[in-house]
Amino acid sequence: MVRETIRFWRQGRAVEVSGFHPRTTLLDYLRLQERRVGTKEGCAEGDCGACTVALGHVSGGRVHYEPVNACILLLGQIDGAELVTVEDLAAGGELHPVQSAMVDAHGSQCGFCTPGIVMSLFTLYHEGERPLSRESVNDALAGNLCRCTGYRPIVDAALQACGEAPNDTFVANIEQNVQGLTTLEDGQDIFVGNETRFFAAPASEDSLAALYAQHPDATLVAGCTDVGLWITKGMAEIEKIIWLGRVTGLDRIEETSDMLGIGATVTHVEAHPSLARIDPDLGELMRRFGSWQVRASGTVGGNIANGSPIGDLTPALIALGSELELRHSGATRTMPLESFFIAYRKQDRVPGEFVRRVSVPKLKGNEVFRAYKISKRFDEDISAAMGAFKFTLDGRRIAEARVAFGGMAATPKRALDTERALVGLSLDEPSTWGEAMAAIARDYQPLDDHRSSAAYRATVARNLVFKALSETASGETRATRIIGQRDALQAAE
Ligand SMILES: Cc1cc2nc3c(=O)[nH]c(=O)nc-3n(C[C@H](O)[C@H](O)[C@H](O)COP(=O)(O)OP(=O)(O)OC[C@H]3O[C@@H](n4cnc5c(N)ncnc54)[C@H](O)[C@@H]3O)c2cc1C
Ligand code: FES
Ligand code: FES
Repeated sequence: MVRETIRFWRQGRAVEVSGFHPRTTLLDYLRLQERRVGTKEGCAEGDCGACTVALGHVSGGRVHYEPVNACILLLGQIDGAELVTVEDLAAGGELHPVQSAMVDAHGSQCGFCTPGIVMSLFTLYHEGERPLSRESVNDALAGNLCRCTGYRPIVDAALQACGEAPNDTFVANIEQNVQGLTTLEDGQDIFVGNETRFFAAPASEDSLAALYAQHPDATLVAGCTDVGLWITKGMAEIEKIIWLGRVTGLDRIEETSDMLGIGATVTHVEAHPSLARIDPDLGELMRRFGSWQVRASGTVGGNIANGSPIGDLTPALIALGSELELRHSGATRTMPLESFFIAYRKQDRVPGEFVRRVSVPKLKGNEVFRAYKISKRFDEDISAAMGAFKFTLDGRRIAEARVAFGGMAATPKRALDTERALVGLSLDEPSTWGEAMAAIARDYQPLDDHRSSAAYRATVARNLVFKALSETASGETRATRIIGQRDALQAAE
């Protein structure tokens, strides 16, 4: 059975939409069709958060809310979710607690960013850790830019409103909302449009494989945090879209004692805890990946498949020795992750083939991992360089090394010369580390761009080799890091 509509839950009832253009964004739907203009457009590229809305999904018997950027999310992607916008929060003539707190704390001036900030606070109100720390408020607001109020009053509002267990109309209506969302889930494939222009959402891997083999010219969309910008900024006239968000199985995380298997559509929010358990640096990397909005939509598979030379996760997964699994029609194949990247934006993927999962080996007792994201801003910034290191130790000597960088070449790439130079080094003899630091210049000839100069990248990469070695030698990071110190992260566990 194929459904020719999308269905979502809104204001306590099911909404069904058909006949929409595949490229319709959720923001355009809200503002131009529903005429709900509380949700604003600031940047139209996922950066400012003015368009933030919340999507709810059922898990563990309740609805969990996440913030998303409506400007780069396609309307079709909200199938099966509860949609909450800023218009839905006040009830019975009373402001929602997060709105009242924003008023009390003077958290708004011109007000353009305010609906988006209120929606981020709404998700924090429902999902935030208790007790709530200032740091987690900062993380929750990293995807919301305010150019006039300043963030202190907004953070104060968050601390005032989001510190206690939630108690709003969404909690009061939880049974009705869970029931409503559950009835939307019919396991059917979705196909809205015709053979030349469509939005499709297969429900199984077999349906996906068959549809993609039939339409190898279609664009796969997972979280749409990259593809969304091709549409809103690149004006790409994409006519055929296959959304992966309904494919059962691709959203699975499988964990054994020595391996983590991450399905292609697992979002960064979902992958974060499992990755952080492999190593605190992976957790810190995910905390700084985009913003909560970007991590809630963006997927691990999308970060790999886009082939970006500066994707953050890929170098880390390459250094860990990960394997990629692809599927075309009925056939699957696997390869070392680094082999997937052939040249700038050219991947080893034939038409009609899709990424299924990535398998990440966990660290063994004698293995050490370090990852460093280098960007101009701490929050929500694409890296200038991203370096990842895995050392296998034999006592105080390096027996094996895997090193990979993003931002240093046309693809995410291993530093093979550096790896060779690292083998045999003693952690107790820093005077012998120079050759490994020099080798990085043979591995990479980085470029100048608006994020950084080639000279800066070359210097930073060389210094990161030293940093990884000295942190491994000393076993602590208090002297080498201002923020994200592993010692503090491990103590907090
Ligand atoms: C504001 C903002 C901040 C960002 N910050 C970061 C950051 O800090 N670090 C970083 O690395 N990236 C960042 N990104 C980029 C982006 O969020 C990530 O690359 C994300 O992981 C992409 O995943 P997605 O699911 O949204 O991909 P999509 O946009 O859905 O797809 C990306 C590409 O991959 C293809 N694709 C997706 N899934 C598959 C599959 N299973 N098989 C084959 N092809 C597939 C699509 O066809 C498309 O070509 C940011 C983006 C934005 C907008
Ligand atoms: S309008 Fe700026 S993130 Fe959507
Ligand atoms: S209140 Fe003006 S941008 Fe935030």
